[in-house]
Amino acid sequence: MKRIKLLDREFGISIPASDIKKAIWQIADKINRDLKDKNPLMVCILNGSFMFSADLMKLIEFPCQISFVKLASYQGVSSTGTVKELIGFNEELKGRTVVLLEDIVDSGITVENSVNQLKKMGAGDIFVVTLLFKPEALKRDIKLDYIGLEIPNDFIVGYGLDYNGYGRNLPDIYSVIP
Ligand code: IMP
Ligand code: MG
Repeated sequence: MKRIKLLDREFGISIPASDIKKAIWQIADKINRDLKDKNPLMVCILNGSFMFSADLMKLIEFPCQISFVKLASYQGVSSTGTVKELIGFNEELKGRTVVLLEDIVDSGITVENSVNQLKKMGAGDIFVVTLLFKPEALKRDIKLDYIGLEIPNDFIVGYGLDYNGYGRNLPDIYSVIP
């Protein structure tokens, strides 16, 4: 098994780049069918979603815009339970269809916060896309519209996801070796 070390932890390969690519194709295919007439604003939730958002956007076949918000909830290998907004929503969102792009849904707190904020700002339909979903970690009652892959409740890195800032550049996804 391919292993890597980041800071004090070892990680083993968990999802190869080819599987990530297939999952993104499937999501893009559905979005291209469902949202082509909705003029959606895609919103990439930084930092983790930068790579996923870039790859997904290249497969979107209708005219659409993208915006970026920066939220942080993780420290080390676990969620802090609160979401810090580092760069906020600044577009005019009244009545607009918004598509949130998340790298991973863990407790669901980040998505819940973002959706509540979009509602307060008067957004129209809100869709949530996540490349990865840890069903066992979910603590909030949220609606996920497009899910790439369901994964076990292990800490992972790679493809945009980090361990204390490291590992985002890896093309494959790795899970921590306990
Ligand atoms: P939630 O708010 O608990 O759902 O967590 C959401 C955010 O925490 C995600 O958007 C990620 O940026 C980060 N996160 C959750 N699980 C992991 C993981 O296993 N590795 C790295 N980051 C994670
Ligand atoms: Mg994220």
